[in-house]
Amino acid sequence: MSRPKILLTRRLPDAVQARAQRDYDATLNPGDDLMDAATIAARAAGMDGLLVTATEAMNADAIAALPDGVRIIATFSVGYEHIDLAAAKARGIAVTNTPEVLNDATADIAMLLLLAAARRATEGQAMVRQSTWSGWTATDMLGAQVTGQRLGILGMGGIGQAVARRARGFDMEIHYHNRTRLPAELEQGATYHETVRDLFAASRFLSLHCPLTPETRHVVNAESIEWLPPGAIVVNTARGPVVDDEALIAALKSGRLGAAGLDVFEGEPKVNAGYLDLDNAFLLPHMGSATVETRDAMGFRALDNLDAFFAGGTPRDRLA
Ligand code: DGY
Repeated sequence: MSRPKILLTRRLPDAVQARAQRDYDATLNPGDDLMDAATIAARAAGMDGLLVTATEAMNADAIAALPDGVRIIATFSVGYEHIDLAAAKARGIAVTNTPEVLNDATADIAMLLLLAAARRATEGQAMVRQSTWSGWTATDMLGAQVTGQRLGILGMGGIGQAVARRARGFDMEIHYHNRTRLPAELEQGATYHETVRDLFAASRFLSLHCPLTPETRHVVNAESIEWLPPGAIVVNTARGPVVDDEALIAALKSGRLGAAGLDVFEGEPKVNAGYLDLDNAFLLPHMGSATVETRDAMGFRALDNLDAFFAGGTPRDRLA
């Protein structure tokens, strides 16, 4: 029996590509060029499935343009806002993602951002690298202590829970808002807030872990920033558009907020230029899941989903 044909739209880790080539008639993208919808549609000719990433906008038009043979889109990401699930469903195309396997790596980056923002890492790095450091003093470079402080987590899925576990190690007090309240064994003593507003009001530190949906787009905005305590610190490892950049930049500039740690940006890889000169913004290039182990695990999970689908079963991470 001939093996299913799949298209990998981006270059993936070697071990993932090796498995894809072992088990499928796989077309790779060794040059890792970004494909637009027309290119994906053209290269998908004769394919049974696509293995995409969050950089491919599989919106309704892109899905409509796919050849009829494509029966599944497996995304190498937990986030799936780049795929129009309704459009896929309407065409009978299955969609899967890769939850769970990136919880720890992403939570690590959230803590890195939180600590770096709290402890003025952007300024400290610049002083050392630009040779402007004139020596230790008892009064300079004082940051915010995290010990004993309240951490608000917006979105208490797997990544939010992994952040809570880490933050408890820093003796932080965990507060959260989620669409549904967690059972006590998962809450682990965290305080649940019924509304985003109540959570923000309680959050000396705020870490964003919600999916990007119409409801969460710009959930951090000029109005909601006013709900946060003065000097609060905001961390985003979720999706850039969860934050209204202009509002956050204004609040960081005015001192209404103390600092921010950001791994994701609206319109990335472009970054709002307003962030670039801000000493109180610690910025990383969307690397929450970027460890060797995690990227391999994401690829293997995507392949597990493809395997289950082509074997006639239901992939464990089926979204549509
Ligand atoms: C995810 O898995 O959603 C990460 O942000 C990588 O795209």
